[in-house]
Parts: sequence; C-alpha cells; structure tokens
Amino acid sequence: MKLKIIFYSMYGHTYHMAEAVAEGAREVEDTEVELLQVPELVPDEILELSGAKQARAAFAHVPVAEPDDLADADAVIFGTPTRFGNMCAQMRNFLDQTGLLWAQNALVGKVGSVFTSSGLQHGGQETTIISFHTTLLHHGMVIVGLPYTEVRQTTMEEITGGSPYGASTIAAPDGSRMPSENELAMARFQGRHVATIAAKLVRT
Ligand SMILES: Cc1cc2nc3c(=O)[nH]c(=O)nc-3n(C[C@H](O)[C@H](O)[C@H](O)COP(=O)(O)O)c2cc1C
Repeated sequence: MKLKIIFYSMYGHTYHMAEAVAEGAREVEDTEVELLQVPELVPDEILELSGAKQARAAFAHVPVAEPDDLADADAVIFGTPTRFGNMCAQMRNFLDQTGLLWAQNALVGKVGSVFTSSGLQHGGQETTIISFHTTLLHHGMVIVGLPYTEVRQTTMEEITGGSPYGASTIAAPDGSRMPSENELAMARFQGRHVATIAAKLVRT
C-alpha cells in the first residue's frame, strides 16, 4: 500500500507534523511512505526578508510533489498551514493543477486526510481542514479524520491542537512554538490510522 504525505511549510511547523505523520504511517506493516512538499510560490527575496528562507533550508531535501503523485498513491495525507482560515496558496495552486486527474476519476476511492498548523489557538484550524475536505470530496476521495479514540485531543491539562477533523499544531503569533509532544503524538496517530484504513480498502 502506497501512502504519500504532501505538505507545504513556510517556517517548519507543518513539516515537523508531516514527519510525525510519516512515522505513524510507517508503523503499519507493508506501507510504503513517501514525504513530498508542494512547490514554493513566494519569491526568494520575500522569503529572505521574512526569515522563511533559513527555516525552509531544514527541509529542502524533501522532494517536490507533482500532481501525478496523487494518482500513484492509495492514500494521501495533506499538511497545510492555516492562511486566513483556509489552506495556503501553494497547496491550492498544487490542487488546482489536478483537473486532468479529476476528469479521469483518478483519485476516486483513495483515502484523503488533512492536518494543519495555525498561529493562534482559535485561528481557523478546523475551517482549514474542513474546507480542504471539499476538494478531496470533489475528487471522490474517502475522508479520514482523527477519531476520539485518540484521546489526546480531549486533554484540558495543556493548550493543544488536534480535533476530530485532523491533527494540528499552534505555532504562536510569532512562530516561536514548535509542535508539542501531544500534537506530534496525534500526528503519528493520524498517519497510523490512515494507513490502517487504506490497507483495508486496498485489500477489498
Ligand atoms: C498570510 C498569512 C495568513 C495567516 N492566517 C492565519 C489565520 O487565519 N489563522 C492563524 O491562526 N494563523 C494564521 N497565519 C499563521 C500561520 O498559520 C503560521 O505561520 C503557520 O501555521 C506556521 O506553519 P509553518 O511553519 O508550517 O508555515 C497566517 C500566516 C500568514 C503568513
């Protein structure tokens, strides 16, 4: 079973979550896991000014995804930072190049799942994930979230991301907060959960 994790990250938060999702997926037997990032759209000089260039160097080794990568997977887990309560433009741009795959019904029946990172605790993590699901449904994908059997999402002991829609992290307004152990554990759970379900679908 082939599972791909396709993300965009500007400062590394979504990337760290993506690595944890991959770790979880790898725990499921016979799962081939590939980590990919969507192409950057922001000009280099702007990345430099915003400090993102240095941050992005930490995951520059991750190969860049092409739309056909989706057709070649049994399950795809997407990671995007929240931008105004929605996915980022880089991810939207990638998805907007999948019209041919849509016309060919190439993704129908594949598993799709989403995780995110936002600056604020109530900055739109849930709207980002749910609005992302709309695109996956147009492609006929089978959506998998983060069930409440992952009880870490119910904790009141600490501030944390995570909801039944998917794993998430809170980066803080200045980006200073990296994913907590609780959030990374939920990301690993999501990877494992999607891989387990996709393996069952592949067998049918
Ligand atoms: C243009 C823009 C819009 C953003 N919109 C939101 C938002 O609606 N809610 C929020 O909590 N954070 C928002 N953020 C903060 C990002 O979500 C945050 O930088 C991101 O989660 C960090 O993840 P990354 O390091 O993977 O890029 C925004 C950031 C930018 C640059």
